[in-house]
Amino acid sequence: MASAARSASRAFLRSGSSVRPAARNARFALPAHGVRVAARRGYASESGQTKSSSSTAWGIGFVLAAAGGTYYYLNSEATPKGPFVPTKEDYQKVYDEIATKLANETDYDDGSYGPVLVRLAWHASGTYDKETGTGGSNGATMRFAPRHARDFLEPIKAKFPWITYSDLWTLAGAAAIQELGGPTIPWRPGREDKDVAACTPDGRLPDASKDQRHIRDVFGRMGFDDREMVALCGAHALGRAHTDRSGFEGPWDFSPTVFTNEFFRLLVEEKWNQRKWNGPTQFTDKTTSTLMMLPTDIALVKDRSFKQHVERYAKDSDAFFKEFSDAFVKLLELGVPFQSKPEDRFVFKTSE
Ligand code: HEM
Repeated sequence: MASAARSASRAFLRSGSSVRPAARNARFALPAHGVRVAARRGYASESGQTKSSSSTAWGIGFVLAAAGGTYYYLNSEATPKGPFVPTKEDYQKVYDEIATKLANETDYDDGSYGPVLVRLAWHASGTYDKETGTGGSNGATMRFAPRHARDFLEPIKAKFPWITYSDLWTLAGAAAIQELGGPTIPWRPGREDKDVAACTPDGRLPDASKDQRHIRDVFGRMGFDDREMVALCGAHALGRAHTDRSGFEGPWDFSPTVFTNEFFRLLVEEKWNQRKWNGPTQFTDKTTSTLMMLPTDIALVKDRSFKQHVERYAKDSDAFFKEFSDAFVKLLELGVPFQSKPEDRFVFKTSE
């Protein structure tokens, strides 16, 4: 049953289409099967690496990278060869590895780890505070890294030990958006990993049970305006909520593994009723009762200023793609002391 939903979702994904899903398959909304492991409370430094020789080499590299900002490549005799300075091609190889793994590992949720990688990149970055300059993706200090996303990326970190976790998490978010049919996300390296002392206090990420004031408080603290806030929330076209993680349940649309403007179209065109269930307040669509919206999603059409952008994006997919890309690039770069300039960002080639 869940696999039927997954196949349909994958078929749509393979079609590479940005058109609206023609088939309204209500089964998408059924909770996917399989054991789901609750998100583990842990620190970036507790990522469960196995004690292999590669992780030992990584450990040494990490210390050197932290000290000098450069990874020293070690050969089999552990003799330093000199600084390894990754080029755009090296980062494209990391991108390609993520894209291949995304294409091969489809036995998860609706058929893709992509959505949870996007969420990892967002949570890693969304702690930023423009007043104090603290938080943000630099440091990989996120305390609640979704375990599924981190486990997915661990073999990639082992294969490319020179990349920092914080660069890897953000690059993976950019790759997932592109691979799921979304806009190009120009990206640049430069984040360093830090220890837990650099963790920001809890409570910087948004609370889905709140209203528009809270959205403005949280995203305003990061330096976003109304238009950017709405664009960013359009990422809820992807993935689903899980009762064992957030307490909420279900996908936002019928194609949760394809990046579209469906989130906005459904917000505007569908009637959303409060779901009657033994769980936190969330909303369900009148037509199929299989989709969901969070209270913060509904706040986007309750607030006049937010709503004008929701309506614009519902009608104009190109405007959404462009403005989402700009806002997501900004999000992934918050608080990062780059040596490079914005015009030096890499544009990765999406897989065929
Ligand atoms: C008001 C702001 C936001 C709130 C309150 C919020 C809240 C949530 C919640 C409660 C979930 C369900 C988590 C789970 O149970 O697995 C979720 C999932 C998700 N969020 Fe957000 N979010 C917000 C903004 C964003 C932004 C800005 C992005 C990215 C740019 C994003 C990307 C995602 C994705 C891709 C998922 C699906 C993850 C999966 O399928 O596992 N969210 N969000």
